[in-house]
Amino acid sequence: MEAYSAIMSIAHEIKHARRTVALTGAGISAESGLGTFRGKDGLWSKYDPAVVASIESFKRDPRKFWEFAREIGWIFLTAKPNAAHIALAELEVMKRLDSVITQNVDGLHQRAGSKRVIEIHGNAGRIICTRCLAEYATEKIVDRIAREDVPRCDRCGGSLKPDVILFGEPLPKRAFDQALKKVRSADLLIAVGTSLEVYPAASLPEIAKKSGAKIVSIDSERTGWDDLCDYKVSGPAGEVLPRIVQAIRITF
Ligand code: OAD
Repeated sequence: MEAYSAIMSIAHEIKHARRTVALTGAGISAESGLGTFRGKDGLWSKYDPAVVASIESFKRDPRKFWEFAREIGWIFLTAKPNAAHIALAELEVMKRLDSVITQNVDGLHQRAGSKRVIEIHGNAGRIICTRCLAEYATEKIVDRIAREDVPRCDRCGGSLKPDVILFGEPLPKRAFDQALKKVRSADLLIAVGTSLEVYPAASLPEIAKKSGAKIVSIDSERTGWDDLCDYKVSGPAGEVLPRIVQAIRITF
C-alpha cells in the first residue's frame, strides 16, 4: 500500500478503534540521536551484547558494562524527544491512544508528555544498588559514574547498575503483566521502530492479533514480522506519526 493511503487508513482505524495501544522500540528514538541496536550501524554491530549487556557478564565483571555504559550513556542524559514521541503524546491528549508500551529505557515518551507509559525494559534514569536495592537518580550521580570504574553504593558498597533489563534478566513482572493486559484488550496496536527480535516483548503483537486487534507497523525498514501487519508504513517515525495525527485532525 502506498504511504499516503496507508496513513489515511491508519488515521481512520485510530478514529474508530475502542482502544489503541502503541508498542515502541529504539527506532522511535533514532531521530533524537540515540543509536538503534540492530542493522548495519546498530550498537550490536560494534559491541557484543553477550559481553557488555548480559547479566552474566555484569556479575562476572561489571567494569566492562560500565565502560560501555559510560561510552553511550551521556546521550541518554542530553537527548530530547522528537516529533514521533510528541505525536504519540498528542494522540493521548486527543483520547485516541490508550497507552504506550516501550522497550526503550530513555524516558523520552514521558518527556514528550505521554502520561501512560509502560516501561518493560526499565529506565536508565535510575540506578539501583545490586546488593541493598538503594535507588539513585542517574543525573544526581553522573560525576561519580564518570570517576569510578564501577560506581559503588553509598549505603552498603555494593555495585550499582542502571535500572535496565540486561540479557538473561527477567522483565519487571508488574510492567509486563500490565503490557499483556493492554494488548489483550486493544483493538489496534501500533508498533513503531522495533525489529521485534527480543522476547518476550516480541510476542506482544502476536498476542494482540490473536485477541482480535489490527496491527500497524511504522518502521524505516522491512522487518521480519511484516506479514503479521494489517498496515505498514516504511519511513522515519518522526515524519510518519505527525502525518497520521494531522490526518486524524482534518478528517471526519
Ligand atoms: P532494534 O535496533 O532491534 O530495531 C530498531 C528498529 O527501528 C529497526 O527495525 C529499524 O529499521 C527501525 N528504525 C530505525 N530508525 C528508525 C526511524 N527513524 N523511524 C522508524 N523506525 C526506525 O531495536 P528494538 O526493537 O527496540 O533490549 O530492540 C529491542 C531490544 O533489543 C531492546 O530493548 C534492547 C535490545 O537488545 C535489551 O537491552 C533487553
